[in-house]
Amino acid sequence: MTTLSFDTSKLASFVGEEELSMMQPMVSVADELLRQGTGVGAEYTDWLHLPTEYDKDEFARIQAAAKKIQSDSKVLVVVGIGGSYLGARAANDFLNDYFANYYRDEDRDFPQVLFAGNSIAPAYLNSLIKLIGDRDFSVNIISKSGTTTEPAIAFRVFKQLLEDKYGVEGARERIYATTDAARGSLKTLADEEGYEEFVVPDGVGGRFSVLTAVGLLPIAVGGGDIEQLMAGAAAGEKAYADADLSKNPAYQYAAYRNILYRKGYTTELLINYDPTLTQFGEWWKQLQGESEGKDGKGIFPASGNFSTDLHSFGQYIQDGRRNLFETLIRVTEPVTDVTIPTMDADDGLGYLQGKQMSYVNRTASEGTMLAHVDGGVPNMIVEIDKQNEFALGQMIYFFEVAVGISGYLNGINPFNQPGVEAYKRNMFGLLGKPGYEELTESLQARL
Ligand code: PA5
Repeated sequence: MTTLSFDTSKLASFVGEEELSMMQPMVSVADELLRQGTGVGAEYTDWLHLPTEYDKDEFARIQAAAKKIQSDSKVLVVVGIGGSYLGARAANDFLNDYFANYYRDEDRDFPQVLFAGNSIAPAYLNSLIKLIGDRDFSVNIISKSGTTTEPAIAFRVFKQLLEDKYGVEGARERIYATTDAARGSLKTLADEEGYEEFVVPDGVGGRFSVLTAVGLLPIAVGGGDIEQLMAGAAAGEKAYADADLSKNPAYQYAAYRNILYRKGYTTELLINYDPTLTQFGEWWKQLQGESEGKDGKGIFPASGNFSTDLHSFGQYIQDGRRNLFETLIRVTEPVTDVTIPTMDADDGLGYLQGKQMSYVNRTASEGTMLAHVDGGVPNMIVEIDKQNEFALGQMIYFFEVAVGISGYLNGINPFNQPGVEAYKRNMFGLLGKPGYEELTESLQARL
């Protein structure tokens, strides 16, 4: 079953057909590096077969834990940053009513899933605590390393709140730790305290971890059908495995991105026309940016939430520096629709009355795309047929496999993140973490 289509017809004036086929030899090498495990970073490519080779016992425990949380909590606080939260957040926004988290408890079928530890802003944390109020809640702390400052601070706060509210024993029953299987301070703490534990597998980097417990538990608690999500990803695993460019849309996407990059299109905007996809853009930006931005190279990943942003930086896209290209993600069938009301008074909108809002939205996307193409902005379209778990799983896998190929095409290691480690080290140094004394001094001297 194909639920995802990839349309490059609007690239015609930017990339010739032969340019794509000339990428085939390089794509074949990239495919081999990825699939034979001979490329740099190969130790972090277990996500490739995750949709079919995941830990089924753990999957069942995730489903059981989700049921328990749904039965004893009105709120699940997911504590994590970067790859340890973006996928779940994107999925929950995409799969649920957009305002589900704002509904009153009695109007919601599932707990509110709220995210903490993705900033160090005290006002955000205090406001979140206020929002939880005296309602029952549980916490899912997600950190592979267990040493990331942002989630570690937030977790301390929520652990304390849980212990004050439910006692040490009661808190233990409400804390779920997703972390390394064997190492790290969170692993040690979880073992000591007896929390239920889930694993961030060694061979799966944070930004590729949405289909592990990292994403699956919060998604399941929010009401998402994680079996369907995995089934969609498995469909992607099957559909995007062919080294032949003409048969593999994910590889085509990777190849076109590289062709465009070499022509000077150094910024890619992931465009959506629906706020339920805004967070998907955030997940995608990490996937692309952390995978490709290395060694002084890489496409800069940005996102556009249209039509909203057309009224802010639309001018730039149409008319500014010509180094941009766009990838539009859209869903064919709207989940719900609105008929534009008929009105006697003439507000200039008579020509649209009786029409569906989804029709106007789609038409806006088409008009905008043509205008941007005319303005010199290459456009591609990734379209899924439905707004559901299966299609989302397939789209996640599409982008994951594409960035692996794309990174190898550009001659970098798509699976490490030395830049993220550098900022974490400096933060430890400046905050006076034991073991970083020398760094502390040298950094302070520079400030
Ligand atoms: O992709 C990555 O590796 C990062 O974004 C990490 O996910 C993020 O820094 C959080 O790290 P950790 O899970 O170790 O707390």
